[in-house]
Amino acid sequence: MAGLAEIRSTFLNYFKKHGHEEVKSSTLVPSNDPTLMFTNSGMVQFKNVFTGLESRSYDKAVTSQKCLRAGGKHNDLDNVGYTSRHHTFFEMLGNFSFGNYFKEKAIPLAWDLITKEFSLPKERLLVTVFHTDNEAIEIWKKYAGLSDSQIIKINTVDNFWSMGSTGPCGPCSEIFFDHGSGYEGTPPGEDGDEGDRYIEIWNLVFMQFNRDSNGKLNPLPKPSVDTGMGLERIAAVMQGVNSNYDTDLLSNLVKSPNNLLKVNDAISHKVIADHIRSVVFLLLEGILPSNEGRGYVLRRILRRAVRHGYKLGARSPFMSKLVDCLVKEMGEAYPQLAQSKKLIEDAIHQEEKKFFSTLETGISILNKEILELNNKLIPGDLAFKLHD
Ligand code: GLY
Repeated sequence: MAGLAEIRSTFLNYFKKHGHEEVKSSTLVPSNDPTLMFTNSGMVQFKNVFTGLESRSYDKAVTSQKCLRAGGKHNDLDNVGYTSRHHTFFEMLGNFSFGNYFKEKAIPLAWDLITKEFSLPKERLLVTVFHTDNEAIEIWKKYAGLSDSQIIKINTVDNFWSMGSTGPCGPCSEIFFDHGSGYEGTPPGEDGDEGDRYIEIWNLVFMQFNRDSNGKLNPLPKPSVDTGMGLERIAAVMQGVNSNYDTDLLSNLVKSPNNLLKVNDAISHKVIADHIRSVVFLLLEGILPSNEGRGYVLRRILRRAVRHGYKLGARSPFMSKLVDCLVKEMGEAYPQLAQSKKLIEDAIHQEEKKFFSTLETGISILNKEILELNNKLIPGDLAFKLHD
C-alpha cells in the first residue's frame, strides 16, 4: 500500500518525466502577495508568472505545496473534526504550465497519471466541467473515453477557480472518485448532499484571466494551467479508506504512543491530528502565538486543539509531545523539521501551559456562576469575560 510519502514522490516524478521543473513548496506566508494571509494553493508562488510580471527559466513546473486554510478567503478551521476531509494544513500536489500547454495536454497528463500510475478504475471516475467549456468536454470524451453521464456540466463558481478576490483565475474541470454505494451522497451538480460518496480528488484549472480590483476579467498573456490535488484525499482513495484521517500519516499521529489522549473521540482526535501540523509548520516559519494577524490564527488553532484535549481529560500539555511523531512522518520531505524540533516543542509547550491555566480559571468562574444563575441566561458581561 502506497503511503503519503510514496504518493507524493510518484506525482513529482511523473511530471518531472514529462519535462516539468520540480519546485520546492513555498512558505505558508506568501512572500509575493499582501492580499493573502496564507498560501492556500499551489499556484500562489507562481501568481506573477501567470500574469507575466515575472519570468522563470522553465515554463512547466510541479510542486507539493504546503497550504493553510485557516484565515482569509479559504478558512476551514471550524469544520475540522466534523468532516472526513477538512484540514487547516494540507499538502497540495500540482502541475503548472505557464503558456506551454493548455487543456489539450493537461487532461491527458492527469488522466494517464490517475489511471496508469495510480491505477484508479475508470468506471469509478467522473468529471465536472464549466458548462460552456465544450473543448474540455471533447477532450474528456476522446482521450479518456468518458461517457456523457461521466461528464457533468456545472454553471456555478464551483467550476470557476479563483485564488482570491483578485488575481489569476479561470474555468476548471474537477475529477471525482466514487467511493461506492456503501457511502451516502449525490454526484456533483445534483440537488442534495455530496456526502462521502463522490469525492473531488483533482482540480484542473484552465487559467485564462487575471481579475483586477474592479472585478474585471483581463485575459492572461498566455493560457496556462494550474492544478491542485489534495495529497491526503488521493491517499485515502489509494489506501482504500474514505476518511483522510484514516490514511497512514494522520492515523499514525492519532495512534502515536506519545499521544497521551487515550479516550476514543473521533472528532477531537481529528482536530488534534490536523492542528498539530498547522501549529508546527507555522512555528517553523517563525510565526509565534500572539493576539493579532497570523500569530493570532496560530494561537486560535493551538487553543482549539487544547480545548479538545481538555475535553478528553488532558490537564497538562500534550500537543508538544506529538512533534516527535510528526517529525518522523514528514521529516524526510521537510528536513527543517528535525533541525527546529526542540524550539518548536518548547514554543508549543509554553503556549499550552499558559492556556491550560486560563482554561482552568475560566471553567471555575463558569461553574461558580452557573450555580448562582438559577436557570437564568448567562449575562453579557460574564460571556464577555469568559470569551476574553
Ligand atoms: N488552484 C487549484 C485548486 O486549488 O484547486
